[in-house]
Amino acid sequence: MCGIVGILGNHEVSPMILDALRRLEYRGYDSAGIATVNDGVLDRRRAVGKLINLSDLLVHEPLPGRSGIGHTRWATHGGPTVANAHPHRAGRVAVVHNGIIENFRALREELTADGAQFDSETDTETIVQLTSQYLDQGMAPVQAARATLARLDGAFALAFLFEGEQDMIICARRGSPLCIGHGDGEMYLGSDAIALAELTDRITYLEEGDWAILTRAGAQVFDAEGQQTSRAVTRINVESARVDKSGHKHFMAKEMAEQPAVLKAAMGYYSGLDHSGIDLPEALDFKGIDRLILVACGTGFYACQVAKYWFEKLAGLPVELDIASEFRYREPVLGPQNMAIFVSQSGETADTLAALRHAKPHVGQVVSVVNVPTSSIARESTVALPIHAGPEIGVASTKAFTASLQVLALLALRAGHDRGHLSDEEFNRLINDLRSVPGYVAQALDREEEIRRMTESLAQARDVLFLGRGTMYPLAMEGALKLKEISYIHAEAYAAGELKHGPIALIEQDLPVFIFAPFDALFEKTISNMQEVMARQGKVFLVSDAKGLAEAGDVPHRLQMPTVPDLIAPIVYAVPAQLIAYHAALHRGTDVDQPRNLAKSVTVE
Ligand code: F6R
Repeated sequence: MCGIVGILGNHEVSPMILDALRRLEYRGYDSAGIATVNDGVLDRRRAVGKLINLSDLLVHEPLPGRSGIGHTRWATHGGPTVANAHPHRAGRVAVVHNGIIENFRALREELTADGAQFDSETDTETIVQLTSQYLDQGMAPVQAARATLARLDGAFALAFLFEGEQDMIICARRGSPLCIGHGDGEMYLGSDAIALAELTDRITYLEEGDWAILTRAGAQVFDAEGQQTSRAVTRINVESARVDKSGHKHFMAKEMAEQPAVLKAAMGYYSGLDHSGIDLPEALDFKGIDRLILVACGTGFYACQVAKYWFEKLAGLPVELDIASEFRYREPVLGPQNMAIFVSQSGETADTLAALRHAKPHVGQVVSVVNVPTSSIARESTVALPIHAGPEIGVASTKAFTASLQVLALLALRAGHDRGHLSDEEFNRLINDLRSVPGYVAQALDREEEIRRMTESLAQARDVLFLGRGTMYPLAMEGALKLKEISYIHAEAYAAGELKHGPIALIEQDLPVFIFAPFDALFEKTISNMQEVMARQGKVFLVSDAKGLAEAGDVPHRLQMPTVPDLIAPIVYAVPAQLIAYHAALHRGTDVDQPRNLAKSVTVE
């Protein structure tokens, strides 16, 4: 989290940095700041809250200069105050930072003992204090930055700007993403290529441990051992990196609406142009494995939980499922016949990346399902399967969830076929089911107005329950997560059969309870649980198909979904889960795209 930008420009850079930060605001919005060097003088502006506050400040207190760095913050050490906002400055140096300096307490003590005066509660300030001390000892900026980097433990992406240096930014990457943009006589730096999309399509992705000296003439890159090295310049598709709401009120609305097209494109990508089967990398070996390990965080974890049902049922593969932040600390038993799959929209989630690195030396294959193909998780896996969903900016993940599910379903089918668990006929039938997803998702999106009306009463709700069985259980959890994060309504999800083992005590008159229950093999059982809720005056909202609604009898609040094959139901039912949360949030007037306390890319553990 936190987004960083640097520009060595030929024009005033403050507006350019502001614009780039706007595209990084999804990474955090607790505060923002810019530092520039103008006529050799280092100066900065910082403001608490969203970028608009910094933008307003700059109107009254402009910040001239053609070289500068900028930051948008998700608070870790120290609350969202001006003093804690980046860029941090000590003496002749300013720094922006994404990540965490793990040894900052020891450094702070050492620096304080040496007479340093700290202005903030942040870990980042130790970096500038250290660099400033080295400068005062007579080191040149490059030397001082190198000496500083050698003292830091933790995960970070950093940019240093020095007083008196109009043509130099020093940057470093260890654990957090960072890329360099090449312009014509200008150089740029950003946490991701999206930030730089309006400036250039020529991008160099720094490798783990790299640091670089940027001047307007280019970048000198050094590897972790300090050896000068060359890193490729890649051309990015600027159009696909450009982000706007395309007429929608929110990014989340746009991204939900994009799902049919995204799912169609992903399916086309993996099923080959002739639509004959599944075109997945040959390197994937499902025959030689005895266990599958699925690891992710948040919404990605729920996608994995759905996939567990698929892999077990369709491929007869034992599956272990883990939340990434728990995985490596519980000493999992891993072996060469295991395949580990990591699911991540950003591909930069620190917990998932750490889990991947923990598993890699022990398991036979490391596979990732990611939205950002240049991300660390993609690059560090043996096989990376991009979901091709395009930039997802709304903090609540929507299209990445359904597109990840689609790719995971393809993997489960391929595993089932390769392992002889699915006949050719079953395999082809299920592939056809998967091809029908975009159409059904479009039909589900057409229910939006009904969902809008259905959720009006949620504006007053304090608590909401979501129930489901089978693959609808993780869907219930996804619904509860979405509702919590964007409407701030407390929501819980349970496997419907688990209700009677405790949570039923929560049911009271008018407690909203959403039940996801397509008419499948588990339908009758879920409906019995629904009756238990209704008998206790819970306010049931049943989400089912025509047959399910007809069988369920008299339920006051009902949402009719298209009748879909079992395999794809969790992908299609993701749409009402998203729309319920979206409209509840609109009714409550919360900030849908940038909910409080959250950030899109969680690069701290
Ligand atoms: C919820 C949400 C988060 C992410 C989680 C993992 O809507 O977006 O729960 O799913 O932070 O992020 P990625 O998928 O980028 O690893």
